Amino acid sequence: MTQGPTVTGESPSPAVYGQSDRPPRGDYSRGGEVRADYTCPQDYAAYTASDHETYRRLYERQSALLTGLACDEFIDALPLLGVKDRIPRFEEINDRLFPATGWQVVAVPGLIPEVPFFTLLANRKFPVTDWIRKPEEYEYIVEPDVFHDLFGHVPLLFNPVFADHMQAYGAGGLKAHRLGACEQLARLYWYTIEFGLMQQTDGANPGLRAYGAGILSSSGELVHAVTSDAPHRLALDVLRAMRTRYKIDSYQQTYFVINSFKQLFDLTTPDFTPLYEQVRKAEELTPDTVQAADVVVKRG
Ligand code: PHE
Ligand code: CO
Repeated sequence: MTQGPTVTGESPSPAVYGQSDRPPRGDYSRGGEVRADYTCPQDYAAYTASDHETYRRLYERQSALLTGLACDEFIDALPLLGVKDRIPRFEEINDRLFPATGWQVVAVPGLIPEVPFFTLLANRKFPVTDWIRKPEEYEYIVEPDVFHDLFGHVPLLFNPVFADHMQAYGAGGLKAHRLGACEQLARLYWYTIEFGLMQQTDGANPGLRAYGAGILSSSGELVHAVTSDAPHRLALDVLRAMRTRYKIDSYQQTYFVINSFKQLFDLTTPDFTPLYEQVRKAEELTPDTVQAADVVVKRG
């Protein structure tokens, strides 16, 4: 069953987000195996021993860093991803994920356009790029690969509150598309789902922790985001985040902080239609701005 738009032509076309001069990575034809909703079979046979080794090393290094830096919900759910010493089969993950929260991981050839992306999320399907970075890109890659998508995003889909938030985001994205407000919503996604921090209060170890996938899948930014004195850390305000531009090729200069996934869910439940109007009228902010109205958790 495909819920995506009808795609005309031979095969779906790639999408590029952010400002990039390079062509998008990924093979969007795959011998006709990419469906109209941009999903495709995970090309497991294409992985080389070196690809599995890249995943194993990234997983090992990143999981060793998590204590004191990643939120408890993430640390608790990470083992549910399964195998650590090779790239997992998506079906193996779905055997646990679907019964837990009704979510499924689906393979895609790379970044996909907004409407199919939001449609998948609204149907509790998380698109995961199936290829992995090359050894020479081990430290840094701009576009999402299978390590970023699986390690960064999928553990929290086992958390019921976060899982519901992601579905609501998908439905909200389709609405934003109708309203011409995708860029505003993309900023909120960036500052929460990709680069969000949480002030963890309960549990045995309170403190600032990461929940955003872009942070959790990067060894450098995980330490930077949680421990560096350089960035600003502001309490999440949806309008404020939507007004703030972001950079895709450097550590963030501002992070937005939530108290809990319940708070994130509650802040994003209201109808954003009037908010988008306000954002349109308000001045855009650079990523290093702090304003008098901001609730500053820690000034950089
Ligand atoms: N409540 C938002 C709207 O009405 C949708 C949304 C939900 C956006 C969750 C982001 C996250 O548009
Ligand atoms: Co991501």
